[in-house]
Amino acid sequence: MSNVPENIIRDMINKAIDARKFAYTPYSNFKVGAALLTKEDEIITGCNIENAAYSPGNCGERTAVFKAVSQGIKDFKGIAIVAGKEGGELEYTSPCGMCRQVLREFVNPEEFIVVMAKSESDYKIMTLEELFPMSFGPDNLR
Ligand code: THU
Repeated sequence: MSNVPENIIRDMINKAIDARKFAYTPYSNFKVGAALLTKEDEIITGCNIENAAYSPGNCGERTAVFKAVSQGIKDFKGIAIVAGKEGGELEYTSPCGMCRQVLREFVNPEEFIVVMAKSESDYKIMTLEELFPMSFGPDNLR
């Protein structure tokens, strides 16, 4: 279905599960781990980081994108997301609207895959175009 092989998808999910352990979520207790796959098949992780003033908090997906871009990496193939309440089951979780827009800045939405996982063998895959059709992007400003 996607161009990313299954063993790499499994690797992304496991790295997202590891990253989720660092989620800082004293307010929602909803813990998110994300693993972004670069064009070079490197995996860069992120977690959500909340804040007492609420709005400065950051999602796991954007943490991963901002980490990558701040290291000079801007080409991505996909992202895996694992999320759920602390101590509960993982749920299929799709990126929030703000994260969809941030991802869209750097990728071809028709090719970039979003892996929403409950475990390394239980996941759904959608392209960013499916999740975020007719998006506004860099081309609109050329
Ligand atoms: N959150 C993410 O990190 N990613 C998502 O895809 C959905 C929501 C975070 C934001 C906040 O820290 C918590 O989950 C509850 O919304």
